[in-house]
Amino acid sequence: MKNVDVIVIGAGAAGLFCAIEAAKRGRSVTVLDHAKRLGGKILMSGGGRCNFTNMYASHENFLSNNPHFCKSALSRYTQWDFIGLVCEHGIAYHEKTLGQLFCDDSAKDILNMLLAECKKAGVTITNQCEILSVQKSEAGFELNTVKGQFQSESLVVATGGLSMPKLGASPYGYQIAEQFGLKVLPTRAGLVPFTLHEQDKKVLAELSGISLDASASCNNTSFNENILFTHRGLSGPAVLQISSFWEPGQSVEFDLFPNGDLLAELQKAQQNQPDVQLSTALSSHYPKRYVQAALPYLGVENKPLKQYQGKQLEQAALAFHQWQLKPNGTEGYRTAEVTLGGVDTDELSSKTMEAKKVKGLYFVGEVMDVTGWLGGFNFQWAWSSGWVAGQVV
Ligand code: FDA
Repeated sequence: MKNVDVIVIGAGAAGLFCAIEAAKRGRSVTVLDHAKRLGGKILMSGGGRCNFTNMYASHENFLSNNPHFCKSALSRYTQWDFIGLVCEHGIAYHEKTLGQLFCDDSAKDILNMLLAECKKAGVTITNQCEILSVQKSEAGFELNTVKGQFQSESLVVATGGLSMPKLGASPYGYQIAEQFGLKVLPTRAGLVPFTLHEQDKKVLAELSGISLDASASCNNTSFNENILFTHRGLSGPAVLQISSFWEPGQSVEFDLFPNGDLLAELQKAQQNQPDVQLSTALSSHYPKRYVQAALPYLGVENKPLKQYQGKQLEQAALAFHQWQLKPNGTEGYRTAEVTLGGVDTDELSSKTMEAKKVKGLYFVGEVMDVTGWLGGFNFQWAWSSGWVAGQVV
């Protein structure tokens, strides 16, 4: 039986960060992970450049049944603290857009930084370690694994969500929560592309590769970024963002001219070039291929601008400002960046991430019901929640 102060299950962003902080306090820490390769999600993240935080991160960028839960951890370990660490390690980074910070070179820089910090603090990491059982003991917790038995005073569950099972995602964290009588809220895929009903797919799949500025709205929430038509459905940042707010069966409204007044543009064109077709006028704002498919799809007649009555032109503009789409569903956990729901935050202390009912049991990162928007917020939650738990485990 290997005896340590702290066992962390899951060597992802949150687990490694918690382990580092605990080991820096002089605790003996072992991280166990069933995956062969460590930090798979970190390496894949941000298109291989890891969007490791967001300069504007605040509690408002998170979804949770209890929107206040994340406030404490985010304010105790902030994006600026993490940026400081990145700078200490000499990692070059840049702001891509909207405060999103990415490595200049590679996501490997972030993983190597975490592993270097683990080494410096004396954290041991065991991969390919399937956990067979977890039991509460007098001294804390006993784990039976394929690599032997482990015992610890504190147990940190950092197993992440369900997205990307190929990278090691599993529901084990939820099972541990349930084993100890903690409530787990229903989970679903977030930050995920939409799939389409057949009649929409027939037209829109032809537009694969086209990206448009758009604002996507649903359930009183809007994101103004861009959307991308793909051969499977609809993706792009605005779609991924709104997917976390969308419920099956609902429509999403897209404003495809989000930063201006399309009617005013068309009226101007009608005055200046009355003989040009509507499609030609629209092609100065959208890719031609899109306009050709969009007009019949949106039910807008194409004729010379001079033939439009005021109301008709208004309707044509509205069709682009208020495109209603009812997605068929989402691509699910296979491609989702995150999992919504998870261990109910009501069961945890927002100061320490410790389970209120089970002394010594902690949950950090995505396994709990705190989900960030797209843009570096999910990693910031991993750092902040891992850090606060690391101060006490
Ligand atoms: P994470 O999933 O990182 O780690 C969990 C660990 O637990 C894994 O190593 C897994 O193998 C292990 N584990 C699971 N079950 C186990 C079991 N039964 N036994 C032992 N070990 C087990 N976020 C962001 O802020 N910026 C970005 O750029 C991106 N980009 C991005 C791209 C892609 C493709 C995905 C899928 C996700 C992102 N994200 C992101 C989201 C971000 O990666 C995610 O929120 C964090 O990695 C969550 O960190 P955790 O440590 O909580 O879980």
